[in-house]
Amino acid sequence: MDAVSAHEIDTATGQDAPAELSSERVKDIFSHIAKKYERFNAISSFGAYKAWLAGMARQAPIEAHHDVLDIAGGTGDVTFTMARAKKPAHIQCTDLVPEMLDVARMHYRDGASHGVPVDFEVVDAQNIPYPDASYDVITMAYGIRNMPKREQALSEMFRVLKPGGALVCLEFSTPPNTIWRALYGFYLKHLIPFWGGLITGDREGFVYLSSSIKAFPNQEGLAKLMREAGFANVTWKNYTGGIAAVHVAVKPE
Ligand SMILES: C[S@@+](CC[C@H](N)C(=O)[O-])C[C@H]1O[C@@H](n2cnc3c(N)ncnc32)[C@H](O)[C@@H]1O
Repeated sequence: MDAVSAHEIDTATGQDAPAELSSERVKDIFSHIAKKYERFNAISSFGAYKAWLAGMARQAPIEAHHDVLDIAGGTGDVTFTMARAKKPAHIQCTDLVPEMLDVARMHYRDGASHGVPVDFEVVDAQNIPYPDASYDVITMAYGIRNMPKREQALSEMFRVLKPGGALVCLEFSTPPNTIWRALYGFYLKHLIPFWGGLITGDREGFVYLSSSIKAFPNQEGLAKLMREAGFANVTWKNYTGGIAAVHVAVKPE
């Protein structure tokens, strides 16, 4: 096992720990909240999810002939947003948790992709079962933070992208302004578990959300991980004062 595949962390703390700990927890959380995930998502993104998603779509260099891979696609929000906004040739919507994809399939049957063909498959992003250089663009929202083998996941995404292809990643991040960061820190620690727990009945999921955001690398930290995986021209745009960021990273030609 090389150094990249060997590094495993607890995604709630950022400390080294066996990957199984985080993988089992994430499966447990998302298999239980799948049906109420969209409500969970609205709360966990502080109501700003749709605006951030629209920003992600604006930044995604998806063209009409592209085959797109959505990683950690969950209930399909990113897949269907890209389908409607960009009309690519095909989207492969993948996620670790079958219950999340069941909800995405239901939306697909209801016409959410506006005619863009979408296939769904249970895939662990840390071990992607697709050939090298098979996708034009990879999208991923709120995925990498939940992966205990982050370096391995980014290497896998790099491998399955075509040269010249791009990874577009929406994730919670770190507000650069000290006062905004302190206010946000208070909100995350005290209000999110309380409010989220009250509305969905799943306090534990929100406690995990808060700690995993706190433990996640800042904008430059994530960019560094991407560069180490081989990506170039890594840029990011902050949303809501840096509470979220969309990184775009390119696989060199
Ligand atoms: C917060 S949800 C985001 C879902 C979707 N991208 C969205 O924006 O609504 C995080 C998703 O990451 C998935 N996930 C966690 N670890 C994963 C892994 N190793 N491989 C693939 N998906 C994973 C979870 O199952 C969950 O559906």
